[in-house]
Amino acid sequence: MPDRVDWLSRLSNPAAAAPASGIAEVMKHGFGRDDIVRLWVGEGDQPTPDFIATAATQSLQRGETFYMPQAGIPDLRAALARYHDRLFGSLFGSPFGADRFFVTGSGMQAIQIAIRLVAGTDEEILVPTPAWPNFAAATRVAGARAVPVQQRFSPNGWQLELDDLEAAVTDRSRALFLNSPSNPSGWTASLDDLTAFLAFARRHALWIIADEVYGRFSYTDAMTTPSLHSLIEPDDRVLFVNTFSKNWAMTGWRIGWLEAPSGLAGPIENLIQYSTSGSAVFMQRAAIAALDQGEDALGALLDRARIGREIVTARLAKISGIEFAAPGAFYLFFRIAGVSNSTETAKTILAHTGVGLAPGSAFGPGGEGFFRLCFAGDHDVLRTATDRLAEYLVASMTSA
Ligand SMILES: Cc1ncc(COP(=O)(O)O)c(C=O)c1O
Repeated sequence: MPDRVDWLSRLSNPAAAAPASGIAEVMKHGFGRDDIVRLWVGEGDQPTPDFIATAATQSLQRGETFYMPQAGIPDLRAALARYHDRLFGSLFGSPFGADRFFVTGSGMQAIQIAIRLVAGTDEEILVPTPAWPNFAAATRVAGARAVPVQQRFSPNGWQLELDDLEAAVTDRSRALFLNSPSNPSGWTASLDDLTAFLAFARRHALWIIADEVYGRFSYTDAMTTPSLHSLIEPDDRVLFVNTFSKNWAMTGWRIGWLEAPSGLAGPIENLIQYSTSGSAVFMQRAAIAALDQGEDALGALLDRARIGREIVTARLAKISGIEFAAPGAFYLFFRIAGVSNSTETAKTILAHTGVGLAPGSAFGPGGEGFFRLCFAGDHDVLRTATDRLAEYLVASMTSA
């Protein structure tokens, strides 16, 4: 029976106004079809490696089923510190302290906590766009305002201009969200860029919420993409959000971490306590296995993405009217000449080719006209999908 009550009018404003995901709108058109290639996703196709899953089942079998400290079990916090030592050598001239790490129920929950730590009602967070839409939406749900700062596109790369950041700052600005490598654009800030953004944040007493979730998807010889870890001083206002999802094929597990000055332990533990009250211990045991023994598995995922990246860029670079900057994270973000409604175009492409792309409009200002394609999956599937896409694009451009 249809529900005729106007439930939305009875809700709080932030809950009622929370936007639906623009990607989901295209996905709805694919429901019920099993011939679709879902390149709109933000994950690969590999299940979690066995040794990680085994650590979780062994923990359950040992009876680790009780409440634990909100900040995470000490073993996992220590493993996070070791992992960061391996990646960055040291922080402020010493090994990373385990007390900087707080285990969360996902990267997304780390983001929610970071927002709540730094911005209250009607305060503002600068969000470079195109951006993963969850960040701005979570800011609004927290009662704060996300102020878009549009990045500039050229096939040589996306840029975040300091002048644009300066123009967006007001006396209500509290933080800058910095997602590098970026979902969706793949923009990867250089160390010089990060130095300039840190100086900007210091100048305006802003926090930086550094989302380095894709930092291990480095397509150079370096173990990570450039990170604020190499630049910060002890009194810098930087919160790092991160996740186990992407590096170790654990998207469905829902576990991540927040890294913050240890002096913030009290408020962070409170925010965890009053939301999830902590993460399941068996998942934390799996997370330790991922950190301590997961480099080979991560390397294999990275190799898979590296080849996927070559397959899709080689195929689409040949088509006139398609433009993109070098892809980062595991996304190709490409523009199709003449497209002004990427949602409708993504639906048309889906209908004609069976290839599911995320429309650029879902990622805020600067995204319209673009499409996000995830290349973390199977190479044959990527080859077939980009062939079909290329054929369709060439035919539609010739007939236009
Ligand atoms: C930029 C970015 N940050 C954070 C996340 C959160 O990841 P999760 O909630 O799966 O841990 C994602 C997931 O797609 C992301 O793309």
